Amino acid sequence: MRVIKTANYEEMSTHVANLIAAEILLNPRAKLGLATGSTPIGAYQTLIEYNQKHLINFSQVSTYNLDEYRGLEPTNDQSYRYFMNHQLFDHINIDKANTHVPDGSNPDAQAACKAYDELLEQAGYVDLQLLGIGRNGHIGFNEPAESFSKGTLCVDLTPSTIEANSRLFASKDEVPKQAYTMGTQAIMYAKTVVICASGADKADAVASMIAGPITPECPASILQLHPNTIVVADKEALANC
Ligand code: PGA
Repeated sequence: MRVIKTANYEEMSTHVANLIAAEILLNPRAKLGLATGSTPIGAYQTLIEYNQKHLINFSQVSTYNLDEYRGLEPTNDQSYRYFMNHQLFDHINIDKANTHVPDGSNPDAQAACKAYDELLEQAGYVDLQLLGIGRNGHIGFNEPAESFSKGTLCVDLTPSTIEANSRLFASKDEVPKQAYTMGTQAIMYAKTVVICASGADKADAVASMIAGPITPECPASILQLHPNTIVVADKEALANC
């Protein structure tokens, strides 16, 4: 793992945006694996600026998001499809037909997961996978478990994830209890993984990911086995390393 330590969130965001911009400049047809959550928002804003200044061109880029809440329509303002449109896709010259998010509106979990796996396989998996990290070490919605996940799966969210995500909902009861998430396999098939973290509440998870045992109890720890993972984190998030 290569670790880039930044002074603060803004610097972390610029580094992440620059890694993604470089990928697109070198490969205009780049396939990007994207993430939701608070952490990547600054990087997305920087990418929007670069696109509006014509420094990077998304017209041939395709994207594959990590996860989606089960039971939310894409038009629901809490869905990750809505988040991605609002935070990135609506502001750049990407063809929306080339942007993919697991289908949370499909109640048939098996069919929804199979369809996403087929899509990823047909695409040949992503060139660059952007990840955030949960306070419990989750990546996507791959929560701590007894074994590492493989293909796309339907997960029960842990109480700590429901608690963390409840800040974005009117109440904790409104947070969906399940999600569809890309499995560990597709994440590990990415040519490059960029995982970003900011703030003291991520320090334990980041330390376990970088220096702890490789265990499904910390799903991000599997990235120690990925040949090209870049951790971009601010000094608070790296405080325990
Ligand atoms: P956050 O979420 O960026 O909102 O902290 C990260 C994650 O849970 O993967």
